[in-house]
Amino acid sequence: MTYEIKKYGEQVLKKKAEPVTEFGEGLKKIFDDMLETMYSFNGVGLAANQVGILKQMIVIDTAKEENRVILRLANPVVTSVSKEKVTYEEGCLSFPGIFEKIDRPSKITVEAQDPEGNKIKIEAEDFLAIVLQHEIDHLNGVVFIDRMSPARRIMHGKELKELKTETKNRIKDK
Ligand code: NI
Repeated sequence: MTYEIKKYGEQVLKKKAEPVTEFGEGLKKIFDDMLETMYSFNGVGLAANQVGILKQMIVIDTAKEENRVILRLANPVVTSVSKEKVTYEEGCLSFPGIFEKIDRPSKITVEAQDPEGNKIKIEAEDFLAIVLQHEIDHLNGVVFIDRMSPARRIMHGKELKELKTETKNRIKDK
């Protein structure tokens, strides 16, 4: 099954997700449904907040990259970052139509748990590092527009306002 994606203007995107404490089949099903949802919108990453689940869960599939990586991570934490930064144009399924260049550390280490609860450590750079940081931000209630420079954010002001109004109207109609 696929979930509905929560869009800019919904409070759940600003909330911190809770740690995952139960692992196994039930959790795997949520990860798979998150992946299915992400694929249906051609995304490369999705955080549970974005489907209204306040659990520390993210999925990633860097399908278009040379070294394809598919990740289902519970409780991911960035444990180290490089001083060196890299700039990518980012988008987000919760902000359809909005794209902007964001600077982030180019190399990071992430510690997390797999769907069975096993501890894993990931050394990531460039595109994968960026996607991981973007998704882990979501779990802390941080979205990519929070990482934009004030000038860039002002530049997207009209689009953001329209998106928020759309979201408010959709919630009201339910
Ligand atoms: Ni996002």
